[in-house]
Amino acid sequence: MKKNLLALSLALAFTSIPSILHAEADIGAGKEKAAQCASCHGETGNSLVSSFPKLAEQHPNYLVKQLLAFKSGARKDPLMSPIAEHLSKDDIADIAAYYGSEKIAANDVPVVDEDEDDATNKAKNAAAVQTLIAQGGGLYRNGDLSREVSACIACHGPLGEGNKPAGYPLLKSQHAEYLIKTLTDFKTDVRSNNPENMMHMIARKMTDEEIKAVSYRISMMK
Ligand code: HEC
Ligand code: HEC
Repeated sequence: MKKNLLALSLALAFTSIPSILHAEADIGAGKEKAAQCASCHGETGNSLVSSFPKLAEQHPNYLVKQLLAFKSGARKDPLMSPIAEHLSKDDIADIAAYYGSEKIAANDVPVVDEDEDDATNKAKNAAAVQTLIAQGGGLYRNGDLSREVSACIACHGPLGEGNKPAGYPLLKSQHAEYLIKTLTDFKTDVRSNNPENMMHMIARKMTDEEIKAVSYRISMMK
């Protein structure tokens, strides 16, 4: 019994190490350091350009992992890689803590029909968006058993909030355009720095239409 208690307290001591490290990250310093990121990601991590991901509210451990991956070259992007190269580990921890403390902003209803000048096209767009979002919502909740696409909800949560201890990213209110791009990168194995290539295994079973639908659904989650 005593032995078990000792083992338990040792286990607790070890699990608290990451939170101690996390407590050392300085949100105030992170805010200052994040000024160099604002032109693309927005001042509070809510980018206005839909090909630049929002970073606000994202779990700091996920942000740290991605920034280290850009720095090491495990994840590549012509705009992001050169920037991450110059960040120290302290910069990364501080900036991640800062973005994690901000709130992600909701998106406007997307336009899927390019030409929405007149009322007919507006109505057509609204209908197309509703259909896509409903289709995407089904996939998010249930996956597609017949084609072995896992339900996103299992790891990313019912509200797209992700799973902080596991490092599964928050997805809600992300720009649809970035989601489509990054899911396609998982599908084609361009983005392959994820644990056991989990997201590649899932995305490679998805059609382009499903990627689009689930992305629009996620972009509307708040
Ligand atoms: C010139 C524009 C630009 C600047 C400046 C910039 N980024 Fe990025 N960032 C991008 C783009 C584009 C992507 C998406 C890359 C991709 O598609 O894989 C990205 C992706 C990221 C991601 C991954 C997000 C995710 O959800 O996986 C993080 C984290 C990030 N940037 C942090 C930063 C930080 C921190 C800074 C400042 C030190 C910064 N960025 C500056 C353009 C920029
Ligand atoms: C078994 C768990 C699991 C399931 C199921 C899962 N994901 Fe993921 N997802 C992850 C992990 C882990 C990552 C982080 C990968 C990394 O570290 O680069 C991730 C990353 C992502 C990202 C990148 C987020 C960003 O900010 O760049 C998107 C988008 C995403 N998942 C969408 C989905 C969708 C859509 C589904 C359902 C079709 C799904 N995921 C199912 C575990 C999962």
